[in-house]
Amino acid sequence: MTTTRSRSPYRLSVAPMMERTDRHYRYMARLLTRRTLLYTEMVTTWALLHGDRRRLLDYSECERPLALQLGGDNPDDLAQCAVWAEELGYDEVNLNVGCPSERVISGRFGACLMAEPVRVAAIVAAMRARVRIPVTVKHRIGINGLESYEDLANFVRVVAEAGCARFTVHARIAILGGLSPAENREIPPLRYEDVYRLKSDFPALEIELNGGVRSLDSALSHLQHVDAVMIGRAAYERPILLASADALIFHDRGSSSDAPISCEPRSTMSGPTEPMSSGPMSSGPMSSDPMSNDPMSNDPVSHDPTSSHESSPTAAAGASEPAGTRRELFAQMMAYADAWDARGGRLAPVLKPMLTLFDGMPGARRYRRNLGELMAARVGGPVVPSMRAVVEHLSPDVLDSPLFGPGAQVVGGAFRQREDPHYPSSLTRSSKSVD
Ligand SMILES: Cc1cc2nc3c(=O)[nH]c(=O)nc-3n(C[C@H](O)[C@H](O)[C@H](O)COP(=O)(O)O)c2cc1C
Repeated sequence: MTTTRSRSPYRLSVAPMMERTDRHYRYMARLLTRRTLLYTEMVTTWALLHGDRRRLLDYSECERPLALQLGGDNPDDLAQCAVWAEELGYDEVNLNVGCPSERVISGRFGACLMAEPVRVAAIVAAMRARVRIPVTVKHRIGINGLESYEDLANFVRVVAEAGCARFTVHARIAILGGLSPAENREIPPLRYEDVYRLKSDFPALEIELNGGVRSLDSALSHLQHVDAVMIGRAAYERPILLASADALIFHDRGSSSDAPISCEPRSTMSGPTEPMSSGPMSSGPMSSDPMSNDPMSNDPVSHDPTSSHESSPTAAAGASEPAGTRRELFAQMMAYADAWDARGGRLAPVLKPMLTLFDGMPGARRYRRNLGELMAARVGGPVVPSMRAVVEHLSPDVLDSPLFGPGAQVVGGAFRQREDPHYPSSLTRSSKSVD
């Protein structure tokens, strides 16, 4: 077994996932882990060049470290998009060479670019010529017809020569033209040995392994062979697993001095906020007034949910410290949802990543139903009371259950990381998803 030392600060990342890793999911993820690198959903160059660029690229400062994933095949367009990413403060720009969807193949980007390493190298070179932030590539171990380790190594060698130093490798080939994106994430077998071998053959490169990693324990074991691990579906289906990442993967026990992100709560308040002094959210550490962590309540800038990153009032809604309990997490998300709603933003996308927060605990099913009903409500009332009602039935034991550490295992013995790849199936299916 090779023991590697990662030079990258990002030993763990959450994968780019269309319709999953939007800004609201990322915001919540950041309440659970300060260290893990987060990726946006893939954004195509076409969308950025012709669509509402400001909205597509907007994010909250708290989400950093944050990488923008781009889809495209035109070096000039990709270079221009990388410039925008850098201007907006993204920490990395990543090229999608792993997506097998028909839509992407017809645009001749995504996984089919694995057959064109020289083109990918030209893209990387064009992007690197225009930005200083790292330009990275996420790809497969191959595609049908180009399935050998030698093909993979050749791809990496050619692209690395253009200056890409970090490769995220989904340890499956993509079968183009035969399987759906979802099937392409399940059917081709995982070949972790190929990814390990890449690291051993290209020790100077940062190699991140992706595919089928369902727990931090599993990530730790891959980290014996590679520099970093990217988790996709498991981090969406069970975001709580991220709560242990800083300690387990980054050995960060919570010292704020070396935290890579800064989401300072504002010290002044602009007006009265509703104290959380009664109801199910009233006990525990957040009981006095979780909204006091809400910097948005003092934001003079705008109430426009499409406002640009620089002026985004969601920049730090209560995200000064990682949450320690589900109660804290819920309260911080409630403050965020309230502020988002006040700006005219839709509530359902904010609530969606919260659906699984109490999975495996007493009352989880009712929680999901309540939250689902709130998401479906066409005309919502005030956010805070509605969200409080969603958790009213949960016991203090459940609400105050720690998100990490030994106590995290306790409630009903249920908070164990599950390895079932189909869990929960309702969240893993998406007809529109790409890879
Ligand atoms: C719903 C969904 C959407 C995805 N969207 C993207 C995407 O936009 N860009 C990308 O590179 N990969 C995308 N992927 C693939 C993931 O990034 C990841 O490579 C894949 O899920 C394997 O990792 P996992 O087994 O940890 O989930 C998507 C996966 C899912 C499930």
